Amino acid sequence: MAKEFVLNTGAKIPSVGLGTSTVGASSREVEDFGDSVITAIKAGYRHIDCAQAYDNEKEIGVALRRLFEDGVVKREDLFITSKLSCAHLSPEDAPVALDATLKDLQLDYIDLYLIHWPLRIKKEGSLSPENFLLPDIPATWRVMEKLYDSGKARAIGVSNFSCKKLGDLLEIARVPPAVNQVESHPGWQQRKLHEFCQSKGVHISAYSPLGRPVYSSGNSIVLCNPIVKMVAEKLGKTPAQIMLRWGLQMGHTVLPKSKNEARMKENLDIFDWSIPEELCAKFSAIEQFKIVRAEVFVHQQSIYKSLQDLWDGEI
Ligand code: A2P
Repeated sequence: MAKEFVLNTGAKIPSVGLGTSTVGASSREVEDFGDSVITAIKAGYRHIDCAQAYDNEKEIGVALRRLFEDGVVKREDLFITSKLSCAHLSPEDAPVALDATLKDLQLDYIDLYLIHWPLRIKKEGSLSPENFLLPDIPATWRVMEKLYDSGKARAIGVSNFSCKKLGDLLEIARVPPAVNQVESHPGWQQRKLHEFCQSKGVHISAYSPLGRPVYSSGNSIVLCNPIVKMVAEKLGKTPAQIMLRWGLQMGHTVLPKSKNEARMKENLDIFDWSIPEELCAKFSAIEQFKIVRAEVFVHQQSIYKSLQDLWDGEI
């Protein structure tokens, strides 16, 4: 298994990246994100998945600057993703948002820029349904294409798009999206989306590839699933390694989060072995449950009245 996948732009994307989402993190932990990035890059990570909405790009930018100045890594050896947040989807705001991200990350280009969610929120508005607006994805995408043309974003894509929303975008795109970043792990395999993306040459990056163990409970802790545990025991690997390796074998980039050096290393140690086909087949028996449902976007006053609307039935 190669350590990189190739995007439809021809660029290589390292197949394991560090997730940096701050959902549920304290302000102290946000400050620590810079240290996590330094630890991860020293441990061998070359792909960092950021977003303006995580509110930690400044800390990550300081860390990257330090790593470059200390000669630990060169800019061209890293793959850095960021995401256009819901408050900046309008054609006037999107270029300003990318400039702000570049300034915070202290970079002059990013490797991949994604529309974070198929939802627009009024600028300065809170996460409240009266602030939710219907996104004009074609208009935003035309700006994304210009950002791609400018070289500030070397690839462009989307996140949290269903087959329907991705299909609609592909109909109008001059530059097809390179990536759809979605929740994916053995407990939420997204077979239909996987097939669709594969048929269209859109690469899947998997967020929460460990199934968000901290926010899950009972049977929904995929790391404790009996099939995952059985495969781990058979192969002498940890359940986390099995989940991540499953993602790679599906052809997905995996973006595990960790603030712990030993677990960062464990999550990177998934290249010189594989899950045999007969064990991989067992994963089809795992009960499917979507963890990141984004209920917060769903309301009678929102543009999405139900989870079915938001995910176009893929839930
Ligand atoms: P920690 O930071 O203490 O390592 P996901 O990326 O699916 O959202 O999961 C992230 C969570 O999984 C983090 O809370 C992280 O905790 C934990 N985690 C990361 N790597 C491992 C691992 N190898 N084994 C168990 N838990 C892990």
